[in-house]
Amino acid sequence: MIKSRFNPFRIHGVVEGEYFTNRTNEIERMITALTEPGSKLLVYGPRRMGKTSTILQAIARINDAGEQAFLADLSTASTAVDIGNKILAEASRILGKGWKSFISDIVSKLSVSVSLTPDPGTGAILPSVDFNLRERDAAEQRKALTSVLDAINEIAGEREKTIGIALDEFQEIHKFGGETAEWDLRGTIQRHGNISYLLAGSKEHLIHRMVLNKGALYKLVDKMPFGPMDTEYLADWIDSRLRAAGIKKAKVGAAIVGAAGPRTRDVVQVARKCFDLTHSKGVATSDDIDEAFNDIVDEEYDLLFSHWNTLTAHQQNVLRAVAAGNKGLTTHSTLKRFGLGTSGTAVNTANTLVKGGHLIKKDPYSQKRVKSPTGYEFDSPFFKSWLMKYTLEDIGLIPDDRE
Ligand SMILES: Nc1ncnc2c1ncn2[C@@H]1O[C@H](COP(=O)(O)OP(=O)(O)OP(=O)(O)O)[C@@H](O)[C@H]1O
Ligand SMILES: [Mg+2]
Repeated sequence: MIKSRFNPFRIHGVVEGEYFTNRTNEIERMITALTEPGSKLLVYGPRRMGKTSTILQAIARINDAGEQAFLADLSTASTAVDIGNKILAEASRILGKGWKSFISDIVSKLSVSVSLTPDPGTGAILPSVDFNLRERDAAEQRKALTSVLDAINEIAGEREKTIGIALDEFQEIHKFGGETAEWDLRGTIQRHGNISYLLAGSKEHLIHRMVLNKGALYKLVDKMPFGPMDTEYLADWIDSRLRAAGIKKAKVGAAIVGAAGPRTRDVVQVARKCFDLTHSKGVATSDDIDEAFNDIVDEEYDLLFSHWNTLTAHQQNVLRAVAAGNKGLTTHSTLKRFGLGTSGTAVNTANTLVKGGHLIKKDPYSQKRVKSPTGYEFDSPFFKSWLMKYTLEDIGLIPDDRE
């Protein structure tokens, strides 16, 4: 077999083609949701699980079949107008291909002024909402967003088609007007019989509140939790990718999944590093997995260190206790050893860290409580390992003497 220099795993951004595997049931369900007129599906799950890649697979299949769907990622928007622009740009890129008059149609239907500029990627002319609107108050900005979605709904109606819109990290709407913004979104999507919406997100505390009684999505959406891939399947896939890339002896998939935990990206990241370490010798063993994991932690030192520096001393101490402790967070010895003050402040800080995405208290997919002695676990296995390696000595615990 020829040894490949090319890594068979990718971790930057979304994956497609041979770098993407499985998720057949999820893709089927998303295709149905994005093509059924007026349907509304909420896809929620932990970070780094593969949501966006899977949605894009569904969208590609829909467009290949001659129907219409697109994704707009809300995560980088700084204003509600930016969201409107993202939707406008993606709609124009995807729908403008098949429907020649789409851009002029949508421009004529928008209730806000629009400028036309070339897309830096393709040179195609794309509409965007007048940038002066970014300085207006949040309510007015949200009207611009509503106007974009209304216009798309109208065009779909005129053409007697359904348009599937996936709003990725949709919970970010909260930044632009809190619960009022969430209710605005509800009002808008509720009216749109010609659009099917897929709302995807990962900020559990925001999404959970929205679907509860009195929340903006209550009884509006079908729910689809997005969880880990079957571990045996993923382990076999890793081994077969390694072997196809020239690693003759590769039976490390299960160990990689075990070391990296449930998030697909973390698993693929260790697999990627494992290939780098082993492709020249052509054999991968469990020692290579430990080395791969440690290399990732060291390579990400700067990133993890700057992450650490954004935290208060009390938060850092709680994280140390969670990383090191084999006793309850609020036991007398843990509070004392890690300088956590009272049990009330320790729990408050731990809960802030849960909200901030550093710790988890229950598995976001299965909703089962974390089994660790402290009752908390790290969101990232690499951050946990970094903390154990570099910060426990600060308080006199050597890394191999973790309580
Ligand atoms: N089905 C898959 N097959 C192979 N690799 C995958 C798959 N799903 C996810 N991954 C890995 O996880 C990484 C992140 O995927 P993606 O961005 O789709 O996840 P996400 O849940 O949207 O993450 P985020 O929470 O950061 O938005 C990919 O770059 C890839 O390494
Ligand atoms: Mg994503």
